[in-house]
Amino acid sequence: MQEQNAYYLNQIYSQNMQERQQTGRIRKCLTHTFGCQMNERDSEILFGFLEQMGYEKTDVEAEADLILFNTCCIREKAESKVLSQLGELKKLKQQKPDLIIGVCGCMMQQKGMADMVRVSAPHVDLIFGTHNLHHFPEYIYNLYQGKGKQIAIVDKEEAVQEGLPSYRDDRFRALVNIVYGCNNFCTYCIVPYVRGRERSRRQADIVQEVKDLVADGVVEITLLGQNVNSYGLDLADGTTFAGLLRELNEIEGLRRIRYMTSHPKDLTEELVKTIAESSKVVDHFHLPVQSGSTRVLGLMNRRYTKEDYLKRVELIRRYMPDAAITTDIIVGFPGETEEDFLETIDLVKQVKFDSAFTFIYSRRTGTPAARMEDPVTLDEKKERLQRLNDVLSQIGRGINDRLQDTVVEVLVEGPSKTNADMLTGRTTTNKTVIFAGDPSLIGQIVNVTVTEAQTWVLKGALAE
Ligand code: SAH
Ligand code: SF4
Ligand code: F3S
Repeated sequence: MQEQNAYYLNQIYSQNMQERQQTGRIRKCLTHTFGCQMNERDSEILFGFLEQMGYEKTDVEAEADLILFNTCCIREKAESKVLSQLGELKKLKQQKPDLIIGVCGCMMQQKGMADMVRVSAPHVDLIFGTHNLHHFPEYIYNLYQGKGKQIAIVDKEEAVQEGLPSYRDDRFRALVNIVYGCNNFCTYCIVPYVRGRERSRRQADIVQEVKDLVADGVVEITLLGQNVNSYGLDLADGTTFAGLLRELNEIEGLRRIRYMTSHPKDLTEELVKTIAESSKVVDHFHLPVQSGSTRVLGLMNRRYTKEDYLKRVELIRRYMPDAAITTDIIVGFPGETEEDFLETIDLVKQVKFDSAFTFIYSRRTGTPAARMEDPVTLDEKKERLQRLNDVLSQIGRGINDRLQDTVVEVLVEGPSKTNADMLTGRTTTNKTVIFAGDPSLIGQIVNVTVTEAQTWVLKGALAE
């Protein structure tokens, strides 16, 4: 695989360089990345390939010679966004016929979707899915060779690929895949259909990658998996997530280890203990609960009850009383009654989440829940979402208020999105802190005094 790719990459690079010498044209590329960090990571790999082809990155669509849409299909909204943005490119393609437009990612991996895009967006040159990302150089090569539209979707996942290039925007933090795919088949969720079965990377490969990243200046890593807690189980050689964390915790120069996402059913006492004992593993659990109703959890195939979940939370509080707990919640799952919803509100109040991502259920074709009766109106679901969010913000505010005047450790990430004169960063509990400081602090861990607690962010000042 790597040898073939090296050939394609070389050929494309030479052609681009020749063109650059003759005409002065520097080919530029741009990616629209939708969805979760899995997709962000995949886009880094695609950029890595593009860099090796001699492309430069741009943020301006009109300047781009190659535009990729790395798509998500977790909810309907994500899909409609892609389709409308894709439609808008028709004009640009007419003005610039040699513009390459590609669509990849989870949405393309769904049955019939590639065909739908091929027909409805004839200006698209390239379509591929999540399982053949590493064949990207070949598809571009074929386009350069004038072989016409490239449409390549494979149904079956291939073995884990190591040694792919990657391009990262930040020097001080990095996303690291540890397990691909998902075996859980929650009844509402499309991910297992578009990302395939669980495949873990070898622990030695992950550790080596992290060491290389640290040597490169990275201080914070985020380990990625749909369910990191089941990392290693498919390798059947004794590898576990707890074992991986223990080894990564020993890497000198690494400061923080984040991970996403934990499935509550696999959160064991051994794992919580390991996290508590590993000083670099952050004080933050993102533990999606989805619903507080045991009946709904059963329909969702989550394989835990409300009480099971509360026990996991107790476990966390016992070993790490100061850890933040955040979650994902779906309202309006098919057949969710007012009583079910009140169970969710009750659970939220008992746990006191620091924050939560909340979603209205979105019907995904091909999933079991799509065939369930869903009598509750969208208006009613919207109203439930509003009530839930009100409760969550009250609780979030209460938790943040207690941080007023305390000193927190912040990894500085960059200029604040809302005020470019300020810096933004995050605490080990994943809270965003905004404060005045010199941009040279970006990438460093600094002490900040919280001067004003707000519902979802903390304002602060550099502490001496
Ligand atoms: N693997 C992660 C979740 C990945 S998807 C986990 O199991 O925790 C991120 C979130 O999107 C989910 O936690 C869920 O809350 C939400 N989600 C997934 N499918 C959805 C759907 N069909 N409608 C609405 N929200 C959905
Ligand atoms: Fe989807 Fe459930 Fe897998 Fe998460 S664990 S990706 S919600 S099927
Ligand atoms: Fe979306 Fe695929 Fe992630 S469906 S949420 S981008 S795994």
